[in-house]
Amino acid sequence: MKEKGSLFSFEGIDGCGKTTQIYGIRDDLLELGYRVEVFREPGGTALGEELRRIVLHRKDFPICERAEVLLYVTSRAQLVREKVFPLLEQGTIVLLDRYADSSVAYQGYGRHLPVEEIIRLNDFAIEKRYPCKTFFIDISVEEAESRLSGKEKDRLEGEEQEFFHRIRLGYLALAKRFSDRFVILDGEQPPDVLRKIILRSVLEVVGHPKLETR
Ligand SMILES: Nc1ncnc2c1ncn2[C@@H]1O[C@H](COP(=O)(O)OP(=O)(O)OP(=O)(O)O)[C@@H](O)[C@H]1O
Ligand SMILES: [Mg+2]
Repeated sequence: MKEKGSLFSFEGIDGCGKTTQIYGIRDDLLELGYRVEVFREPGGTALGEELRRIVLHRKDFPICERAEVLLYVTSRAQLVREKVFPLLEQGTIVLLDRYADSSVAYQGYGRHLPVEEIIRLNDFAIEKRYPCKTFFIDISVEEAESRLSGKEKDRLEGEEQEFFHRIRLGYLALAKRFSDRFVILDGEQPPDVLRKIILRSVLEVVGHPKLETR
């Protein structure tokens, strides 16, 4: 193994399949004998879950755009310090259901806030510890809409289609800029196919137990 623990993030617009994949990969890795932890953003800590409730579900008071960014970034700063860094130190594989790129895609590209400033806020919050790989699961906005129809929408999911188009293009721009860590996946493939591709990519980083010489 190249380093002690390894960090992977899963990104994409709402409904692309992040949560489906992350738990599949977690099970695969556990079966292979790895220690694995999953966290969702915002959340993962007591402070983070409280902030999640506010930022996603409280619709009874306004949250201005810049405050929204800071709430997400605050949750992230707490998560990495309290959970992620210590787990990586112990050699655990950490899978994140959204991470720094979500703020850039949603608040930067989606809400037209300055992208470079959000990247700087992320750098500060996560102490520049970016994932080994970021799996961007790409689906069309129309496909996302049809997958999520019928589900109750949170504050962000209630936004218009154009917002999600901007986010998708934002992710594609990030994938191009940070091509060393981004893996773009066609999210309209069947879940099992995606799972195999992602697992192979994770094992390239953490090493395949069966292939290691003893
Ligand atoms: N590859 C796939 N093909 C078709 N449907 C899928 C695929 N992956 C997930 N789904 C379905 O799409 C819906 C959304 O999946 P999931 O909850 O994993 O997405 P998500 O990216 O975590 O969404 P959110 O951002 O809202 O948390 C679920 O009903 C899931 O069963
Ligand atoms: Mg999810």
